Amino acid sequence: MQPYLKNKKIVLGITGCIAAYKAAELVRLLKKEGAEVHVIMTASAKEFITPLTLQTLSNNPVHDRLFNQHLDVKIDHIHLARWADAFLIAPATANIIAKLAHGLADDLLSTTCLATTAPICIAPAMNQAMWSNAITQKNIATLQQQGMNIFTPDEGEQACGEIGIGRLLAPQDILRLLHSVFVPKLFENQRILITAGPTIEPIDPTRYLSNYSSGKMGYALAEAAVNCGATVTLITGPTSLSVPLGLANYIKVDSADAMYKAVMEHIEEQQILISTAAVSDYRIRETAPQKIKKSSETMSLQLVLNPDILASVSARKLCPFIVGFAAETERLYERAQEKLEDKSLDLLVANQVGPDKGFQSDHNSVTVFTRGGDPISLENQSKVQLAYELLKIIHQVK
Ligand code: C5P
Repeated sequence: MQPYLKNKKIVLGITGCIAAYKAAELVRLLKKEGAEVHVIMTASAKEFITPLTLQTLSNNPVHDRLFNQHLDVKIDHIHLARWADAFLIAPATANIIAKLAHGLADDLLSTTCLATTAPICIAPAMNQAMWSNAITQKNIATLQQQGMNIFTPDEGEQACGEIGIGRLLAPQDILRLLHSVFVPKLFENQRILITAGPTIEPIDPTRYLSNYSSGKMGYALAEAAVNCGATVTLITGPTSLSVPLGLANYIKVDSADAMYKAVMEHIEEQQILISTAAVSDYRIRETAPQKIKKSSETMSLQLVLNPDILASVSARKLCPFIVGFAAETERLYERAQEKLEDKSLDLLVANQVGPDKGFQSDHNSVTVFTRGGDPISLENQSKVQLAYELLKIIHQVK
């Protein structure tokens, strides 16, 4: 879910290369996000994928001619140029990149791009030698100077059999980058440190103590903060999630102690700390050097308290704005208020955990506690949406 794509008007330009088939998936994903899509195809794009496919998926006629004989055609290049909230060219060949860099307007796509004032996003796809060619790189630099957004292609195996940079990004990643164009830049030039996921406390070389945290909330906040223009450091316990795009630092740790050290190393010069990590409160007093053998009916593990990262940062005044999270199974309101006071936080996000609630889920409902203000309830929604709502509140309170 990418909340800022809802109701956005997107012109998707498709140019002629083998990756054109991926544009079909892109249209489907855009429609799923609630965007309206008009597709423009170049003549060579139609060699790779049929207009009928794109027409069916976009639920709009496909545009492919600069000069149309039919008087009843309401959407010509000027209308499309004005209609769009953003242009996305995916895949973009070396040819369209060169044309745009030089202001050529010899077909519908290049002409409409020249006529629009909407942001233009380019997702290149081409053979690695064409991509690294100095002329292409110069054209890309020109487009960047003009304020166009370049979604740098992936590295990997190409349709021609070669290996290198030039593969079209995955449609999901293109969608995420396009979405970021619409996100208000609330935290431009601000540094935000986010902790996420569980920590694990080793018992012996084969076992550990941990909790059910998936890291989804922290990762969603990290991606949303990047999209809001922040410079983001994400310190994470073990998760199965993919790394958010555009982070300044991505630091993987295992134990609470390792997370404490990583936070202390990076907290200086941060404007905001958001502590979503479910840090283990205790660790094993002594990790066994060898696998513990099964020997008796019961066994005991001696635990010692871990450092409270959030409380330490707060007590030592290492960060000007501190946000904590509290997952509770009972007395949510009282515990949240206590925690806000005890740890001297600026904001606390509390949520009820239990079966199907909180930890592993893609959705959550939370209550936000601030100093002096009334609690704010955010109803059940995706953690991605919730991340943007929380950042808006942080921005208002800060
Ligand atoms: O006190 P409690 O563990 O419930 O507080 C939860 C908050 O404190 C979360 O923001 C969590 O990331 C943080 N925390 C921490 N270090 C710990 C335990 C919790 O930073 N050792």
